[in-house]
Amino acid sequence: MDNKLIELINEKTPIVELVSEFVSLQKAGKNYRGLCPFHQEKTPSFFVSPEKNICKCYGCGEGGSPINFYRKIKNISFQEAAEELAEKAGVKIEKTERQKDPYESFYQLMQEVKEFYKFNLKNSENGQKALDYLYKRELSDEIINHFDIGYAPEHSDALYKLLNDKGYQVSDMIKLGVVKQKDDGSYYDLFSNRIIFPITNAKGSVVGFSGRTLNPKDTIKYVNSPETVIFKKGQLLYHFNEALSEIRKNKQVVLYEGFFDVISSYKAGIKHGVATMGTALTFDQVKLIKQFTDSIIIAYDGDDAGVKATLQAIHLLEKVRLKTEILTIPEKMDPDEFIKAYGDEKFEILFGEYVKDPYQFRYGVYKKGKDLSNANDITTFKNQVLEMLSYADPAIQNLYKSRLAKDLNVTADAFEIKTKKQPPIPQNEVIPKKEVHKISNKFEKAERYLIYAMLRSKQDASHIQARLKTSDFVDHIQSTIRILIDSYYKEHDQLNLEEFLDSLTSEQRAFAQSELFKDIMWEKQLDIDITEVEHYISLVKTANLMRRKTYVKATLEKEEYKNNILLQEFKMLANLK
Ligand code: GTP
Ligand code: MN
Repeated sequence: MDNKLIELINEKTPIVELVSEFVSLQKAGKNYRGLCPFHQEKTPSFFVSPEKNICKCYGCGEGGSPINFYRKIKNISFQEAAEELAEKAGVKIEKTERQKDPYESFYQLMQEVKEFYKFNLKNSENGQKALDYLYKRELSDEIINHFDIGYAPEHSDALYKLLNDKGYQVSDMIKLGVVKQKDDGSYYDLFSNRIIFPITNAKGSVVGFSGRTLNPKDTIKYVNSPETVIFKKGQLLYHFNEALSEIRKNKQVVLYEGFFDVISSYKAGIKHGVATMGTALTFDQVKLIKQFTDSIIIAYDGDDAGVKATLQAIHLLEKVRLKTEILTIPEKMDPDEFIKAYGDEKFEILFGEYVKDPYQFRYGVYKKGKDLSNANDITTFKNQVLEMLSYADPAIQNLYKSRLAKDLNVTADAFEIKTKKQPPIPQNEVIPKKEVHKISNKFEKAERYLIYAMLRSKQDASHIQARLKTSDFVDHIQSTIRILIDSYYKEHDQLNLEEFLDSLTSEQRAFAQSELFKDIMWEKQLDIDITEVEHYISLVKTANLMRRKTYVKATLEKEEYKNNILLQEFKMLANLK
């Protein structure tokens, strides 16, 4: 876009009108003023000058031309802001293909889906039950609207039909995971009889959904959209876009584990909350946060899994040097439960009184449950604390050295900390080291997830058994466990984990407990949907094919076959060079 055009768009966009959409303004002489939307303040220092057609905050310095203001407040690019304002002002511009988001039509489809679910919540018989459930959990209509909560009707193809009537391609519906195809060729909606939470990307476009069951006996509490080109759970945070202005104002973000925690917190007046969706916090998510704030409060559940996830998150956040605090919720509650039990005000007080720094938090976690007269416990505790301190500032090191000395009844000079330096923040998309690790582990992980799916459901177990030979598993313990699960299901319809673990040898059990179940998937009791199962099956098959190829190739290279023309020709044809 050239400068002339940009000037024209700015000229044709009256700043007072534009800002008024977001800030309530009062006249102040020639100008207008209001509370700055970019930072928290009690007295207005955000000024708008109709004469110059610009705005500026004298507190934090934010503001600028109409396009600049608009892009900041909407968290969109300059280009996007200019285009939107041009359209509003009736300025003609030519959009080049490159400038358009290639997924624009997908967002539109998802928006349509969102509206469909919202409509069903308020306008159908079963939707009423869902609505009653939400009311029972003390969500008001206002909250339901803010979070765009909806309802997906039971065993339906209503969504499919609607989208079809509106002219959307069925291939797109499937690509985005909102519609599926049956064996007989007919189509049906993915979500059935569930409360629907739309999930937006950082720019506010709907990219996926999560559906909560209404049946307390259902073992799958939440069903998510499958991973798609626009829905990548590890790169998204629930309610991030919606919370952006509050995150800016508070200069901080609060990170929760669950949808309902974000919602209850919002209700209680803490509106800058976001959540991961059942997976551990990722580097991509942290990078997203870091674009907008340098300070984060982790408010995970107070139970053991929550503590473990918090430790993991601290580790990651330390690397990117975000100021981290931890909200510790008493009585092993989650934020939602706490608010319900003690009310909004108490929750706000929690933020003042129960917030710990990462050292206080970890020190407490490490010390808890240890017998400090037991040599093994002493060693573990000491090592954990010293490791924690290895990246710390000398002042912090000294503080915790003396604390440790007091707890262990020795002098502080008994400890030697091996000070390490944090590596620089990686700038590229992924942490390379981790990626390598992930790839080498990909097949093993696939096996693990398949076992996990087998443990969760007899149906998945028999599906997997039918698709894969037992010998297809590379890891021998995992392969044995798979056989055992299969034989367990010969006598039971559901797998009771305690009982199943009892039937294993101690070696197998130790493996299951230390390796198999250490994954967050397991701890959080997450479901693996059938597309994921298929994905892991094909990974295992690929791994096998690769192994066979290597084996055949090695065999054909043996001296005795070197002169066998037929075999050598086969080798060439099979591309085994
Ligand atoms: P309520 O139990 O209704 O209060 O929901 P919650 O949002 O608090 O859920 P919970 O604390 O049990 O789990 C935290 C988050 O993990 C949820 O918000 C989901 O994102 C995810 N999660 C929980 N259960 C499942 C599940 O069965 N499948 C999947 N895919 N994700 C889940
Ligand atoms: Mn909950």
